[in-house]
Amino acid sequence: MDAYKIDGGFALRGSVEISGSKNASLPCLFASLLTPEPVRIRRLPVLRDTNTALSLLKTLGKEAFKGGDVVCLEEKNFSRAVFREITAPYDLVKQMRASILSAGPMLARWGKARVSLPGGCAIGLRPIDIHLDGFKAMGAKISVHGGDLELTAPKTGLKAARYRLHFESVGATENLMMAAAFCPGVSVLERAAREPEITDLASMLQNMGAMIEGAGTSRIVIRGNKNLRGTDHAVIADRIETGTFVLFAASAPGSSLEITGCVPEHNRALLDACRKAGVSVETSVQAIRVSTPKGFRPRPLSIKTKVYPGFPTDIQPLWTAFMSRARGRTTVQESIFENRFLHVAELNRMGADIAVRGDRALIRGAGTLTGAKVMAGDLRAGAGLIAAALAAGGQSVISRIYHVDRGYENLEGKLSALGARIKRFVEVRYQRVA
Ligand code: EPZ
Repeated sequence: MDAYKIDGGFALRGSVEISGSKNASLPCLFASLLTPEPVRIRRLPVLRDTNTALSLLKTLGKEAFKGGDVVCLEEKNFSRAVFREITAPYDLVKQMRASILSAGPMLARWGKARVSLPGGCAIGLRPIDIHLDGFKAMGAKISVHGGDLELTAPKTGLKAARYRLHFESVGATENLMMAAAFCPGVSVLERAAREPEITDLASMLQNMGAMIEGAGTSRIVIRGNKNLRGTDHAVIADRIETGTFVLFAASAPGSSLEITGCVPEHNRALLDACRKAGVSVETSVQAIRVSTPKGFRPRPLSIKTKVYPGFPTDIQPLWTAFMSRARGRTTVQESIFENRFLHVAELNRMGADIAVRGDRALIRGAGTLTGAKVMAGDLRAGAGLIAAALAAGGQSVISRIYHVDRGYENLEGKLSALGARIKRFVEVRYQRVA
């Protein structure tokens, strides 16, 4: 398996261009299932997750033609009967939980969806009850057969409905918005997620012929259309990659980094926190400049993760790593996922002093971190370990970076161009001697 070797203590200098958003790309790719017409998605990042989504779309009848960061999805001429029998297979769904986003479009358009139940993942149980309750409100019947979820719409198709989510689930909002976009009549989603990825998906669905108001607020009104058209959609910049590079630069003292092709407004909570911690942050329309003096150690700043526009949970592992060198104590409270501190034990191997108590990480800032062999437990935990390795004295080896490959395009290329000493290599696996 691939691993990273990082020699810490080198500042990041120069400019980095942000890729298209993984978390906007995935729902936009699945939205192509709502129409037989060709759909073009631009600024698609080349990632394990987007490749997994394209493989899944292929099993669901969509042929992908790629050129650079543009993909065109065309529909094979399957009969309705064939479409109704297709299942999103477990071996793809277990690799990427967002496969559940195929359910809404398939159920709305074909009256049936079969998706292997995703199961949990490293950061939590990741239930899908809100997705399913919303589909039931639209008339769907749901059953489970051999680990596969089977959703069936009434003979007359899903019906427009008013539904209040019990939590601002990003995926459930996306799934239900896609289903409603196909249903004639007016649907209303209340306590909807407000993330920029919702707004981006809504703009794509509008260009396909749905009428959507209120995306980005807690109340979304959708007037659906059975004849949705093909479209050409460019996804928004990846706000989590943006936040990742902000904290890479903040963690590596003496850095001066320009982050371009981003939307600073999407990272307001993080940028405010960085300024309070003593990082110099300037923004323009599509760029952020981050700089720290040599020997910089942040002021302690406790945070609690929240739904957008609050402090993003996906940046929490990087903030925890950043605060492990703060000039004092901080508390990081994780309110979105129940098990998102996999990076803590690994950071402690690098000399951090962090204790986990329930949903809180209690951090006592250490003057220095030291390079060590550590292991990525999930995508953003891996990013947190990279931030720590950039700051640490000496060499770190981060294994299982297949997690990191899920969500960051050409990460070592981007970091090396900024002066980081990072190398990818194939780690020798020691076999147990019989
Ligand atoms: C999306 O996941 C993102 N993934 C996650 O990013 C992100 O962390 C998360 O939103 C929160 O912002 C994609 O967009 C592909 P949720 P999603 O439904 O939609 C509970 C990354 O690193 N919940 O908003 O799965 C759930 O258990 C990934 O890029 C229910 O209880 O997140 C969790 O505690 C990680 N029932 C909370 O809501 C449901 O039916 C947030 O989940 C659905 C969710």
